[in-house]
Amino acid sequence: MKEFWPTMDFLKPRLIPMNRRRRIYEGKAKVLYEGPEPGTLIQHFKDDATAFNAKKHQIIDGKGVLNNRISEFIFQHLNNIGVPTHFIRRLNMREQLIKEVEIIPLEVVVRNVAAGSLSTRLGLEEGTQLPRSIIEFYYKNDGLNDPMVSEEHITAFGWASPQEIDDIMALAIRVNDFLSGLFLGVGIRLIDFKMETGRLWEGEMMRIVVADEISPDSCRLWDVKSNDKMDKDRFRRDLGGVVEAYTEVARRLGIMQESEATRPTGPQLVQ
Ligand code: TMP
Repeated sequence: MKEFWPTMDFLKPRLIPMNRRRRIYEGKAKVLYEGPEPGTLIQHFKDDATAFNAKKHQIIDGKGVLNNRISEFIFQHLNNIGVPTHFIRRLNMREQLIKEVEIIPLEVVVRNVAAGSLSTRLGLEEGTQLPRSIIEFYYKNDGLNDPMVSEEHITAFGWASPQEIDDIMALAIRVNDFLSGLFLGVGIRLIDFKMETGRLWEGEMMRIVVADEISPDSCRLWDVKSNDKMDKDRFRRDLGGVVEAYTEVARRLGIMQESEATRPTGPQLVQ
């Protein structure tokens, strides 16, 4: 019997040690590994912060853990209200199990209030309420610095079909409505955010789902009372206190216990 086992390896549970998992893709702030089953991936959140197409780079201890938890919270709620996402479940402090999708090469930005590149482009004072929410598309291409594109470019170059653009815009509006309410309820104004989408194949059927992450790295979040920035602009603009701001977002959303979020990583003084 014993000599049979080597040929029956397929019966053993497929546990892959961390260091031998196949790396599928490494981005600026995340790594994707092969998942435990076909059609799944593991999304790992790093502590790297980049801005201006990675010209500025820094390791911010604890950022990955916070973004993993905040993004889990948002994606789980989106799944619960029937907005389809790639998210399955969180696995540990830095990783989540996700469905493998074909990423559509567009960054979808939804803006409620003028800030950032919109303010620069159109000369609008940051903080000006927009007449209505505005959706913009950027072509995901680091070599080109993610240029803004129109629906004409998207369909002409075949990045997405007109029907897919409609689906993406409908998803973006639902995500914006959900996030605006969620954050307003905890005293945070959702200025704008970026989301990504992917094609999820289920047999012969395909549908567009929300992918990647939604976290303070990809949103502008301002405190309602003070207008303090609680997002990655703290890093982009050298304001400091990045982890403190992300921790406060997590705390207000009720994700992390205060003690857990602020627990020091080094030895603790026992009193
Ligand atoms: P922007 O004002 O710089 O165009 O940014 C709009 C929103 O998109 C803002 O919430 C930050 C987010 N964003 C990303 O998530 N990744 C990026 O590479 C950029 C440029 C912006």
